[in-house]
Amino acid sequence: MQKENQDIIIAIISGTLFVLLFGFISFLVVVSYVRRKRKLLQEKEAREIAYQKELLQAQLEMQEHTFRTIAQEIHDNVGQILGLVKLNVNLLVLALKDNEIVENLRQQTNKAMAELRYLGNSYHADRLAEQGLVDAVKQQLEQLQKTGMFATTFYSEYDRLQISKNALIFLYRMLQEALNNIVKHAKADKIDLSISRKGEEVCITLKDNGQGFNSADGSFKPGIGLVSMQERAAMINVQMELNSKLGVGTTIQFRFKQKNV
Ligand SMILES: Nc1ncnc2c1ncn2[C@@H]1O[C@H](COP(=O)(O)OP(=O)(O)OP(=O)(O)O)[C@@H](O)[C@H]1O
Ligand SMILES: [Mg+2]
Repeated sequence: MQKENQDIIIAIISGTLFVLLFGFISFLVVVSYVRRKRKLLQEKEAREIAYQKELLQAQLEMQEHTFRTIAQEIHDNVGQILGLVKLNVNLLVLALKDNEIVENLRQQTNKAMAELRYLGNSYHADRLAEQGLVDAVKQQLEQLQKTGMFATTFYSEYDRLQISKNALIFLYRMLQEALNNIVKHAKADKIDLSISRKGEEVCITLKDNGQGFNSADGSFKPGIGLVSMQERAAMINVQMELNSKLGVGTTIQFRFKQKNV
């Protein structure tokens, strides 16, 4: 009888142990399955992000290539013709001294050439890099001021920034887009741009006094301008902050450490 009891106890204990062991092994299998699945998912997400990044990089490179072609076309075709016009105008100036109409023509030709050079340079990455971001941006604001539609202010604590060529081009294109947006959408008459030092960081702030917008509004239509601005910022380690208030205006700020971009 005692032997029978012992057998039952042993059977219960070994049964329990078996169930526990089985449960434990099943638990381990499930945990490792979940972990593997999560890892695969993370890898897939990382691959997708890398792919999107590469795609965007390719798009931006293509855009730069197009800009470069435009710059070359401007320089080689229209630039050449204007060069000949200038030559002839100079001959006219010599032939008809002190003629007011000819003098006006000379000034207008020079102006057209300067404008064209500016346009060509702003599309040409190498020229932009030579000129530097601070000067290039200052010139952009001067162009807007010249239209008579805006009062602009420009302030910079830097003469030149020590940043990579890639970052310079990206920042310039981002500011170009932000300025285009002001011209297209803001209905502003004042634009302020400052490049200031905040500790180790450079802080570029562009502000308009236009109608502003509310991105949470149902009628808001996002374009590719703001999105690609954000993507470009992320690609070169620039913090971008956008604040817009209806009836007050819009401020965009880019912050970065020179050594990081
Ligand atoms: N400075 C601004 N003032 C007022 N509204 C603005 C300003 N900047 C952007 N917006 C609003 O945000 C929207 C999205 O801007 P975004 O640059 O993404 O697109 P878009 O300029 O309409 O088109 P695109 O793709 O050609 O840039 C604009 O349509 C406009 O309504
Ligand atoms: Mg836009």
